[in-house]
Amino acid sequence: MEKKNIQCNVTILSYDELDEKDAELVEKAKQATSGSYSPYSQFSVGAAIRLADGTIVTGGNQENASYPCGLCAERTALFYANAQYPTLPVNAIAIAAKNVNGFLSTPITPCGACRQALLETELRYKQMIKVLLYGTEKIYCVDSIAELLPLQFTLS
Ligand code: THU
Repeated sequence: MEKKNIQCNVTILSYDELDEKDAELVEKAKQATSGSYSPYSQFSVGAAIRLADGTIVTGGNQENASYPCGLCAERTALFYANAQYPTLPVNAIAIAAKNVNGFLSTPITPCGACRQALLETELRYKQMIKVLLYGTEKIYCVDSIAELLPLQFTLS
């Protein structure tokens, strides 16, 4: 028998420790919560994606009375980016979330389906996607989506 210990490397930063570009991306993610349509959960998520040429695209979670039809903020932004800019790799994604009391103090992390979709983009463009997860008290920074999806499913 062999045991494998899988680690996930996360850097925890304060807002002031972000460089200018990452601070801008986080701000865009926070703003993108205003494009959330979340009457059922009252939980507004915003995602901002930075492409290789510096272009930023954003998305908010989109819910539906038929609950499974909804889409997370991350995939709303990601699929828009991949559809509108198919030649441009994704360099980074920032995610912010708020409930009725405002932005959360501890970051949320992307759901499994969003991790899988982001991983495919990482593999497709052979470009690591930096992940910035915003909370008012701390920001989690991960160098690659693959860090968040160990033992990942791929066809190869
Ligand atoms: N949601 C996201 O948009 N991103 C996440 O990473 C987690 C959850 C959305 C889905 C749903 O609209 C709401 O948050 C509550 O689960």
